Amino acid sequence: MTSIQEKLSHYTKDILFPLGFHAKLAPAITGLTDLLFTLHAIAPESEDLRTHLSTKSGNAIGPLWAALCIKEVFRTQRFIQATHQAIQDKLAQKEGPIQIIYAGTGPFATLALPLMSYYTSTEVQFTLLEINQISFDKMEQTINLFGFEDYVNTAICADASTWHVPADLSADIVLSETMYNGLYKEPQVGVMLNFATQTDNSCIFIPEEIKVDLVSKPLQVERVNHLDTLITFNRAFMNSLIQQSTHRLWEFPIHRIPLPALAQEKLYLATEITIYRDFTLKINDSSLNLLRRFHIPLPTEGSEIVVQYQIKEIPAFEVVG
Ligand SMILES: C[S@@+](CC[C@H](N)C(=O)[O-])C[C@H]1O[C@@H](n2cnc3c(N)ncnc32)[C@H](O)[C@@H]1O
Repeated sequence: MTSIQEKLSHYTKDILFPLGFHAKLAPAITGLTDLLFTLHAIAPESEDLRTHLSTKSGNAIGPLWAALCIKEVFRTQRFIQATHQAIQDKLAQKEGPIQIIYAGTGPFATLALPLMSYYTSTEVQFTLLEINQISFDKMEQTINLFGFEDYVNTAICADASTWHVPADLSADIVLSETMYNGLYKEPQVGVMLNFATQTDNSCIFIPEEIKVDLVSKPLQVERVNHLDTLITFNRAFMNSLIQQSTHRLWEFPIHRIPLPALAQEKLYLATEITIYRDFTLKINDSSLNLLRRFHIPLPTEGSEIVVQYQIKEIPAFEVVG
């Protein structure tokens, strides 16, 4: 019988195989999904597992939905490959352990677990944050089942958008996938900003950049017309926002956008993610990159809309004028 550690190492090898797509990729993600779901006997009908948590910087999805994220083949592969690349780059610059803050682990610590099987605990150390108590408990169980306790610097059930990084923790990498398409609803922006205020520019953020464009297209038509880039959310953007804001009341830039003739055109948010270096998720690569309809109050032809990102219980791009 193959041990769960051996199975994990086998799937990890296939997930890290340096090709965008290959025959063993989907079987590896499916195999890992089955392994983790079997270990935890997750009951899809359980109300507790389906319940989301509302926070001041966004919605934390319930344990079942967080667990299911693993199934998105390209999302999971590219985030793990990108983090692997970032660890390699850091290890080329300094001695381990590379300190990684992983914010929003879900019940499986999906993006960290394969890397724990690949590296030694003297090379990587994780600080694991999860706001949902059920997900947090299952994540700790997962770590214990695989015997990966040595890889954990700290594990805390806390809100990553307000958590204070301890003075003795110098983070090399911050990793978080707490987002939805169009930077809608989930707290990615608030979480990343919290860590940007507490780390220096040498800390690698994964994802490195999230770009959201406002585009228009007629229904049933594939090709889109670019109207404006609403945000290029990267370290430089966060640094300038931090400089301009007081008391962490983030004031996002305001965009005035002339509207096209809207009779046949609908507006959408288009999300592209640079996870790290060449690891990207482009339009339609995952659910994070699906076009999101952007509803506006009745437009009059030839007018403009004024759009701003806002962090609140449901973060979103809003029409503010
Ligand atoms: C989209 S799931 C991703 C799960 C896993 N990291 C993955 O990539 O498959 C996001 C997870 O982040 C957690 N989360 C959301 N907001 C959070 C916050 N403010 N602080 C800590 N965890 C949070 C959710 O509870 C959920 O488990």
